[in-house]
Amino acid sequence: MNKLLEIIDLKKQFGGLTAVNDVSFSVAEGEIVALLGPNGSGKTTVLNMISGALTPTAGTIALAGETISNLPPHKIAHKGVSRTFQLVKILPSLTVAENVIAALAFRPNPLWGSAAQDRADMLLADVGLSGRGHEHADDLTYIDQKRMELARALAAEPRLLLLDEWLSGLNPTELRVGIDLIVSLRARGMTIVLVEHIMEAVRALCTRAVVMNIGSKIAEGPTDDVLADPAVIAAYLGDGHA
Ligand SMILES: Nc1ncnc2c1ncn2[C@@H]1O[C@H](COP(=O)(O)OP(=O)(O)O)[C@@H](O)[C@H]1O
Ligand SMILES: [Mg+2]
Repeated sequence: MNKLLEIIDLKKQFGGLTAVNDVSFSVAEGEIVALLGPNGSGKTTVLNMISGALTPTAGTIALAGETISNLPPHKIAHKGVSRTFQLVKILPSLTVAENVIAALAFRPNPLWGSAAQDRADMLLADVGLSGRGHEHADDLTYIDQKRMELARALAAEPRLLLLDEWLSGLNPTELRVGIDLIVSLRARGMTIVLVEHIMEAVRALCTRAVVMNIGSKIAEGPTDDVLADPAVIAAYLGDGHA
């Protein structure tokens, strides 16, 4: 398998706190890998280092064989890494289409004018917001904000998509919609690192899972095996002796 993302001995220290401690894993092209672990285990910090929002204390991150861990965030974005945030980030005073058009303007090959408008319409259709471009972003329901956030992330035509608890806060019907949207991305060959607490989604979407606890990787393998691992179950139950 072709490794798209390779993380080796990644470490992040905040003062005396080691938030990520020598974590290594890789993600093949077209794969959806779950990054799991209880709150505070370092998952978002890993995503922040992949996207360049944080600089690693040590270790390397490579995208398609090229080291990206010393690059600023916009360069990493231009290499093909897009993300969503644990708390949805939108431009609330703009319309839905303008939110996507703003993302299109920041690509390495920016789109403007009617080309941007047309592409925004396509991206909105892809996430189930067909014909909704004129609505105000802050009038959208939560699931529709999530759809728009995804359209913004896809505007960059990423090779690697980082989803940080993108499905959290959805009701059961919306969750089904959200899972189906990620399935449609998988069908198009998108490579995804999925940080998620909803195990139904993890089982439905991810062939492989990596589990962290207190900064360290404690398990990695096929999703069903990992979720049945006593050390993983103990970590989620807050058992420090796992
Ligand atoms: N910018 C920061 N400064 C200081 N500590 C941080 C920062 N970001 C995260 N942490 C700490 O690092 C640890 C891991 O956090 P995080 O990566 O957000 O965990 P998770 O996403 O798994 O819940 C936590 O103890 C958190 O308080
Ligand atoms: Mg987090």
